[in-house]
Amino acid sequence: MNETGKAIQSIEWREDHVRIIDQTFLPGRTVYCDIRDVGQMWDAIKKLKVRGAPAIGIAAAYAFYLGIKDIRDISYSGFSIEVDRIAQYLASSRPTAVNLQWALDRIQSTIHALREKPIDEIKDTVLQLAKTIHEEDKRICKNIGLNGQELIPDTANILTHCNTGGLATGQYGTALSMIYHAHEAGKKIHIWVDETRPLLQGSRLTAWELTSAGIPMQLVIDSAAGHLMKSGKVDLIVVGTDRVAANGDTANKIGTYSLSVLAKEHNIPFYVAAPLSSIDTAIKTGDEIPIEERDGEEITNIGSSRIAPKKVDTYNPAFDVTPAKNITAFITEKGIVKQPFTTGIAKLFS
Ligand code: MRU
Repeated sequence: MNETGKAIQSIEWREDHVRIIDQTFLPGRTVYCDIRDVGQMWDAIKKLKVRGAPAIGIAAAYAFYLGIKDIRDISYSGFSIEVDRIAQYLASSRPTAVNLQWALDRIQSTIHALREKPIDEIKDTVLQLAKTIHEEDKRICKNIGLNGQELIPDTANILTHCNTGGLATGQYGTALSMIYHAHEAGKKIHIWVDETRPLLQGSRLTAWELTSAGIPMQLVIDSAAGHLMKSGKVDLIVVGTDRVAANGDTANKIGTYSLSVLAKEHNIPFYVAAPLSSIDTAIKTGDEIPIEERDGEEITNIGSSRIAPKKVDTYNPAFDVTPAKNITAFITEKGIVKQPFTTGIAKLFS
């Protein structure tokens, strides 16, 4: 395993606070940000200082503890009102990645199950649970990487979108974990990295992770994908996800749907690396997935430079939904799921 894939700890619990790498400064500078209260974490998630579905879930879990740790002299019913308020507040930071709600639900049901216990004991358990969610994610991502190996030939040109590496998870990543493990296994892989407009998670973060790891890659603009596929330069596509519906419809970074349509046209396998924490069996199809809309300034500006006319109107959806029919397979920590997805996904949870 390369050093970056192994070593990146984008989130770390430090005695009484959370330390994150502020991803908005990468790759220029590695800036750490110490988070000491729930409001600071809400802001960090909203502004993409911490980002990527699994990382958002982990961050929210630690933030939950930060939100309850100083509550004192309160009955369980008063405590429970505060708990609901904190959960709703954190959930409002970003709507699409279900890992956020998944982590909050897991903590809330644990708190509820401990309602007869002293409040201090409940608080300690919440911190332990946040640490467990974090550690579990590292193991899950490693298994996704290993499970995906049978889909990556010994020589392959792989296209990926957005950032799905150690920065976006507890460690290793999801789609990038498959890539790290393929490289470690000695496969001759070359990665096409989509720059991923507008916030450039591909050129800023994935390119940083892959070059630091010594994995051969080339950065391309998002709209080069069709040309690459038509020219026979892409053997497979692997992306991550923010939410998978029970039928396999998949939300991921804007531009993923277009890639899936192009992949279908060119008969190229289209894989989604997905931890179970990103699968939302409560929703039947992708139509129910909330799509985050972000500030138009992310399109009209690059950094602090404005590139569009002053009064231009904008529309900036941060995600799109790829229909299940365009997906070849999901790679999860429990193995590979092929069509038909509705039964395959249900089995993962049975
Ligand atoms: O807006 P972002 O950067 O949080 O979007 C992230 C993605 O779309 C990732 O592909 C997804 O969260 C999977 S991360 C392992």
